[in-house]
Parts: sequence; C-alpha cells; structure tokens
Amino acid sequence: MKTITVAVINQKGGTGKTTTTINLGSALSKLGHKVLLLDLDPQSNLSYSLAASDPDNTLAEVFLGSKSIQDIIVEKDGLWIAPGSNELVDIEISLVQQPERELFLKKILAQVKGFDYILIDCPPSLSVLTLNALTAAQEVLIPLQMEVLTLQGLDQIMRTVQKVRKAFNPKLKIKGIVVVMFDVRRKLSQEVLEYLQENVKEKIFRSYIRLNVKLAEAPSFGKSVLDYEPASNGAKDYKALAEEFVES
Ligand SMILES: Nc1ncnc2c1ncn2[C@@H]1O[C@H](COP(=O)(O)OP(=O)(O)O)[C@@H](O)[C@H]1O
Ligand SMILES: [Mg+2]
Repeated sequence: MKTITVAVINQKGGTGKTTTTINLGSALSKLGHKVLLLDLDPQSNLSYSLAASDPDNTLAEVFLGSKSIQDIIVEKDGLWIAPGSNELVDIEISLVQQPERELFLKKILAQVKGFDYILIDCPPSLSVLTLNALTAAQEVLIPLQMEVLTLQGLDQIMRTVQKVRKAFNPKLKIKGIVVVMFDVRRKLSQEVLEYLQENVKEKIFRSYIRLNVKLAEAPSFGKSVLDYEPASNGAKDYKALAEEFVES
C-alpha cells in the first residue's frame, strides 16, 4: 500500500491549518481511507481539538528516541492521531544543532505502515520542524485566506518549497491551495480569489471552505465538525474538498 504524506503549511498563524488538517482528515476517513494526523505544532491545537493530548505520549518523545511512533498513535472516531506537545519547542531548539536535522521525521515515518494518508499539521513558521515535514512529505497543501497580503505570504511558501526541493526532497509536489474562511458576502474575498486564479499557476481547489461557526466550535467538543455537526456548511465543505482531494 502506498501512503501519501501531505504537509499542511502556511507560515502565518490562524490561517486554518489545524482546522483543515482535522476536518479534511476526518472527511477522508469517512470516505473509507485510513488516515493518520501528525501534530507537529508545539501549540498542539490539533491534539487538544481532538481530545487526544497525553503528556507522556507525544511526538517529542519520538523525536528524542525514547518512544517509537507506534507507541504514541491513538485512535479517535476512526481517525489516527500522533499527538504533539509544547515540548516540541525544545526539540526544535535541539534539532538545530544536529547533523541531518531536516531528516528526522522522514526516518520516523519510514516505520509507519498501513495508512492511505498522513496529514502533518505544521507550526506557523518556516522552522526546522516545518522543514522536517516538507522533507518527509510527498505533497504540500496550503490553506489560504483571501486577504490583501495573501499573495505575499504565498510567495514565501513557494520559495521555501523550492529550497526544500533543491536540498532534500526533489519530488515535493504542491497538491494545491485550499481557500479557507471564505466570506461569501465580502467583496474583497471574491476579488482576492479572482486575482489568485489569474496569477497563480498552482492548483486552487474548486471546493472552498466557507466561514462557519461550527468549525470554530467543534474543538471544544473534541471532535471534527463532521462528527460534531454533520449537516453544517463546514462539514459539507470539507467533505467536498476531500472528494476533490482524492481525485487530484
Ligand atoms: N472556515 C472557518 N470558519 C470559521 N472559523 C474558522 C474556520 N477555519 C478556522 N476557523 C477558526 O479560526 C481560528 C484559526 O484556525 P486554525 O485552524 O487554528 O489556524 P492555524 O492552525 O493556521 O493557526 C480557529 O479558532 C478556528 O476555529
Ligand atoms: Mg494550528
């Protein structure tokens, strides 16, 4: 079985990375795929949002070599999760001094078998943890909000991907851009989207994610929006995205 590993990146915080990792992952699992979510952000919002935090079993221990990845993976609502923790801050610092520091996660994931998709929720920076994700992944998924500075941010992401291709991962592919938190009533959102469609050669998924309060509420219940409120626009949008995602 071939596993497709996807890094969900954007160097800004609050741009929908965690929400997209969780809900795209959940939608993919409901389509019958076996999905592992990796929480690589020291803020560990993904682990909290799925009530999967466990201070003794986190990716930080796996990076340190005191646990194997199999030891820390947990299952929730049909989704598999490798939780993170704030200790990843220390990992980040200690990695900087290591030889081959960008290759740790790739080696860790070489031990993981049996998943159709591994989605990596990255920190909001182009840090060494993010470089690990980009080196371990085959594909990159970029959630983008339709704001004035969106294009500038996208440019920085593309330059980082280009650097990673040169140095560590020549086959790294941009899976596509997902438009998130789209406000259908706001003229600016539509204008930025049109600009993006005309000026960016990367794939922009047709299925965009609308602003939807259920997406923001679901984490308090430790669930994806598909389990929390399956009839919501948030659930519908991520389901549509998942269908397009597997076909692309
Ligand atoms: N489509 C959406 N509609 C409403 N709120 C959203 C949506 N997507 C994300 N949010 C909320 O926006 C905030 C930032 O999203 P998050 O996924 O945590 O971003 P990141 O992981 O990039 O920092 C969170 O509070 C989240 O619940
Ligand atoms: Mg996040």
